[in-house]
Amino acid sequence: MRPTFETGRGVLIESYLIDEDVDLYGQPLRVAFVERLRGEKRFDSAEELIEQMKVDVDATRGVCASFQRP
Ligand SMILES: Cc1cc2nc3c(=O)[nH]c(=O)nc-3n(C[C@H](O)[C@H](O)[C@H](O)COP(=O)(O)O)c2cc1C
Repeated sequence: MRPTFETGRGVLIESYLIDEDVDLYGQPLRVAFVERLRGEKRFDSAEELIEQMKVDVDATRGVCASFQRP
């Protein structure tokens, strides 16, 4: 829902690629849920959201480091 910015675009699934700089527009993308890190929050500023995103990325690196594809 992205409550910090109230885009009014409803429920979306947003993928955030780490360490990749590729053009995937128009390509099919398979997304798998591995672990829930936290619930979505409304932040008081974009800066606070960006700080949380850095924490999320670090946590995701930890999850991915030990993830074995089933
Ligand atoms: C890892 C990550 C976590 C995020 N967590 C939140 C969140 O908890 N709350 C929120 O309002 N937006 C969060 N966002 C931001 C939105 O998902 C989205 O990127 C932002 O609203 C800008 O969207 P736009 O580029 O379509 O305008 C997060 C983004 C990322 C990449």
